[in-house]
Amino acid sequence: MKELNNPFSPGAGKKPPELAGRNANLERASIILQRFKAGRSDRSSIFTGLRGVGKTVLLNKINQMADEQKYYTFFIESPEDASLAKLIIPGLRKILLLMDSKEGAKEKIKIAANALRSFAAAFKIKIGEINIEVKGPAGIADSGNLDQDLVDLLVSVGEAATESNSAVAIFIDELQYVEKEELAALFAGLHRISQLQLPFVLFGAGLPQLAGLSGEAKSYAERLFEFQEIGALETKDAIKAIQDPLARENVIINTGALKILLRETEGYPYFLQEWGAHVWRTAKKSPINEDDVKTATRNAISTLDTGFFRVRFDRLTPIEKDYLRAMAELGKGPHRSGDIASKLGRAVEGVAPFRSNLITKGMIFSQQHGDTSFTVPKFDEYMRRVMPKFLPHPIRSRRRM
Ligand SMILES: Nc1ncnc2c1ncn2[C@@H]1O[C@H](COP(=O)(O)OP(=O)(O)O)[C@@H](O)[C@H]1O
Ligand SMILES: [Mg+2]
Repeated sequence: MKELNNPFSPGAGKKPPELAGRNANLERASIILQRFKAGRSDRSSIFTGLRGVGKTVLLNKINQMADEQKYYTFFIESPEDASLAKLIIPGLRKILLLMDSKEGAKEKIKIAANALRSFAAAFKIKIGEINIEVKGPAGIADSGNLDQDLVDLLVSVGEAATESNSAVAIFIDELQYVEKEELAALFAGLHRISQLQLPFVLFGAGLPQLAGLSGEAKSYAERLFEFQEIGALETKDAIKAIQDPLARENVIINTGALKILLRETEGYPYFLQEWGAHVWRTAKKSPINEDDVKTATRNAISTLDTGFFRVRFDRLTPIEKDYLRAMAELGKGPHRSGDIASKLGRAVEGVAPFRSNLITKGMIFSQQHGDTSFTVPKFDEYMRRVMPKFLPHPIRSRRRM
């Protein structure tokens, strides 16, 4: 069928034609936004889940809702080794400039601008012209202690929002990559903000390891945030994600074909989009049949193998690849660390450094102590395709972290 009309949108953060199965999350977000705006207390939210379940898409959607509610917002994505302090400064600067132009030169905005400038200076971060009259006592956000200064800075922005009866919502994606000290400082700021009941809310997202990392950063993280797990879609929602966009193009898919598609994608949103797009390309006409889906499956897998899976595989060392290949040998997972180590013919302690690097790289996570799972759905199948034989490299025993 004509590619021009292909309704599906595979790709990181791409808005799906049908945002299926997330109503509860969106309704909750809408209430949180309304409550913060009305000066009531509530909790910031953190979405955790595997790659491709739709966390970024959710954050984008909530960002849009916040904009509609006239929030001051910014959205950042943490790269693997970025400094959070550096990342949030342009966002806060943008917010203060906007507030200043919309709300008039209010006292607290000037104080917040002062805090922002001091903060940037204390952490040697370049910042563009602020163009706001800065005002306020010295000693706000300039101690050089990240925890203290980020608290000062976020509180001053929150107070500026209160003064002008507005509210601030910040969106941070890939939070699992933020270093522990910075995560702790961010949480300390949000903690203070929540104590002061300021209209400032965070929506964050990250891989499943984020829940544990948050607790390690600040023990009160669990009470400060609402952690919402985002997973594969339930069958009825997965069907909706495929059928509704097709129906809008006057195309139907027969039951047998739909069944294969659901089995192959396991209801993972990214895979639904990828399969949907390939099925569209393969089918000559409506209704889409079993053969269309079978051909599309081969094409979708080859697209994933040269893209989505491949980019992750290429970032691994040979021994890390072996570790994942050993996991794949055991199946889908989760797997016990001991079982993986013995597949590699090693003691658990001998492979622990590689396991820990793989967690930092965002390839695997541990839900429970000693359990290990892939962060990318279907990665076990890919590992068996890309490394058909399981022949682990010898690990030099001198090797230590
Ligand atoms: N609820 C949903 N229904 C259908 N497709 C979705 C849904 N959420 C996300 N997608 C699709 O899944 C893909 C991955 O979404 P993304 O937000 O990048 O996932 P994540 O951030 O969790 O890795 C995108 O192609 C997007 O269009
Ligand atoms: Mg994402």
